[in-house]
Amino acid sequence: RKEHRDELYRVNQLAAKFFHNCLTQTEMGKPGLEYLQSRGLSKETIERFQLGFAPNNWDKLFRSFHERGIDERILIECGLCRKNDTGRIYDYFRNRVMFPICDGKGRVVAFGGRVLDDSTPKYLNSPEYELFNKGHMLFAFDKAYRTIREKKQVILVEGYMDVIGAHNRGVTNVVASLGTAYTKDQGRLLIRQAEEVVLAYDMDTAGQKAARRAIELLQDTEFKVRVVAMPDGKDPDDYVRNHGPEAFLELVAKAVSPFEFYLNSALISHDSNTAKGKEAILEEVFPLISVTSNQIERENYLKALALPLWLDNSTIYRMFRQYLTKGD
Ligand code: CTP
Ligand code: MN
Ligand code: MN
Ligand code: MN
Ligand code: MN
Repeated sequence: RKEHRDELYRVNQLAAKFFHNCLTQTEMGKPGLEYLQSRGLSKETIERFQLGFAPNNWDKLFRSFHERGIDERILIECGLCRKNDTGRIYDYFRNRVMFPICDGKGRVVAFGGRVLDDSTPKYLNSPEYELFNKGHMLFAFDKAYRTIREKKQVILVEGYMDVIGAHNRGVTNVVASLGTAYTKDQGRLLIRQAEEVVLAYDMDTAGQKAARRAIELLQDTEFKVRVVAMPDGKDPDDYVRNHGPEAFLELVAKAVSPFEFYLNSALISHDSNTAKGKEAILEEVFPLISVTSNQIERENYLKALALPLWLDNSTIYRMFRQYLTKGD
């Protein structure tokens, strides 16, 4: 078992090297290198993250690894290769820039691969297997760990490029939850390092929804949580590129509490002057209050709703109780 795991680590490390070499040393890798440069990444960043390129070829990695005597079963197990119906083995990642995914100790365990244009799927990721459990990982935790510890703060984003774009400009306490929702296991990774989690999720619907899920999971933990709103640009990578790291850090400094985030966004999407609007606003904010087990905090939230909605406390309490019973 131990030998098998070691072999999986070794093959992933070799694959990272293969992709990185292809990106930085070969003609084949040029489109990938140009792509990453066009997105503003420096040579140092490309080295630090060991970014790579998977050649536009059916089985280049497979053939090269086969020659070195690496068993095809292991390549299939870690998702680098697949077998088609006719029994032919081919590379899973082709013609994509490659992001190695490392565990907390910096060992490569998986990859994300992005297309160079706007074809779909935009990203392919290694399947989950013995070494790779998405929910247990935070992308770039190994590279962000020191700064997270120093600052006692972690900035949680959605995507590979958000992390890399931020690190590229010197903001190095940034990690990503890999497009999936934040999980409790990821929280466990952070618990001794950070006091504060700042969420900087994409400003699109999916991102805002993911932010809510993360907040609700984080609500009853010892982390202090705040949420960034990006006034323009779709995600942190765009923002850092357009406005620079200082401006991004200013947004981080101005990040609001979960309650403000819920209330602000509800007030934007509904008319607080109508009965229907008030109800919709409450429906949006109640999920946060219902996952708050501290009674005093709960009360503060409920009271804070009275003023912006022009409702009596008693009405709000009644509606909250209704909301809770409806949920059962
Ligand atoms: N993601 C994925 N598979 C997809 C789309 C997204 O795994 N088909 C994950 C990736 O980890 C991605 C994250 O979700 O980084 C966020 O998705 P998105 O915002 O669409 O991508 P960006 O990270 O912004 O990538 P880019 O800037 O290159 O478009
Ligand atoms: Mn190199
Ligand atoms: Mn998005
Ligand atoms: Mn992006
Ligand atoms: Mn994005």
